[in-house]
Amino acid sequence: MQFNRHRRLRSSHSMRNLVKNLYLEATDFVLPIFIEEGTGVKTEIESMPGQYRFSLDMLQDELKEIWESGIRSLMLFGIPAEKDPVGSGGYAENGIIQEGIRFIKRIYPEMLVITDVCMCEYTSHGHCGILEGDTVNNDETLEYLAKIAVSHAEAGADMVAPSDMMDGRVWRIRRALDEAGYINLPIMSYSVKYSSAFYGPFREAADSAPSFGDRKTYQMDFRSSKEAILEAHDDLKEGADIIMVKPALAYLDVIKTLDDRFDVPIAAYNVSGEYAMIKAGAKMGWIDEKKIVTEKMYALKRAGASIIITYHAKELAQWIASGEIE
Ligand code: PBG
Repeated sequence: MQFNRHRRLRSSHSMRNLVKNLYLEATDFVLPIFIEEGTGVKTEIESMPGQYRFSLDMLQDELKEIWESGIRSLMLFGIPAEKDPVGSGGYAENGIIQEGIRFIKRIYPEMLVITDVCMCEYTSHGHCGILEGDTVNNDETLEYLAKIAVSHAEAGADMVAPSDMMDGRVWRIRRALDEAGYINLPIMSYSVKYSSAFYGPFREAADSAPSFGDRKTYQMDFRSSKEAILEAHDDLKEGADIIMVKPALAYLDVIKTLDDRFDVPIAAYNVSGEYAMIKAGAKMGWIDEKKIVTEKMYALKRAGASIIITYHAKELAQWIASGEIE
């Protein structure tokens, strides 16, 4: 024999189904949602068609649709009515996230509510921490992050996800949660978070663009490949239960490296710019949205992500349920 016949195992739909080893399920996905302080708000985000900012009084129908699609995990992002230099809306007992958690848990107690722990949506300057001159003071910021995380726990969050990229935040948040009695509340850390232009549409959605400068002194440099392991390693040492890579699509190599290296669940955040590109291409009629989104999700699975945070989540779950994708 001169060569192998790989086509044997591709010969029919049933054969391909038999030999495949990757699966997509609604429960793999986390759907990010934007909630805004106030009433009567349901505003579509221009660069993210199909995604909205909701005030809590307008959220109920959407929650029902999400629940019925089979999605069981949400990631909450808040847009407060007021911002100040220390982002006090982020840890206010009746802040938008704290109220949002209570609202969702009251209607759907089994929905897993994950909260993004960061300050950029709440600070008047849009940076992810406390400013000292033009830079973010790391250690002072840790105290605020700890307060934010505990306030989310008190409101009933199921998991906290720090995304600020300060050093030592997982250690500080773990200590604060433990001291407050939340020893069983897990931390999903945005361990490997690059300073990325793929977050552009999110910053429009959450009104969180920095008012000056950029986030390059705290988010990671994509020109460096070694830091990813170091960041993930340290977060695990500090007490992270799940580690995340963000963005997802351009960083499949990083997901794979972490999955090979660490025996914990790996999450991938398929971010706003990745979503916007697909929606734009689909709107132009240039790509097949369902097929491309499905292929991307399998790519993330293949790289090693078991949890996928994506704005496509509700639609994906609906496609899976109706048998439109497999
Ligand atoms: C908060 C945060 C951001 C995103 C998630 N959490 C914005 C940023 O870091 O600038 C981006 C998510 C997305 O683009 O979908 N720091």
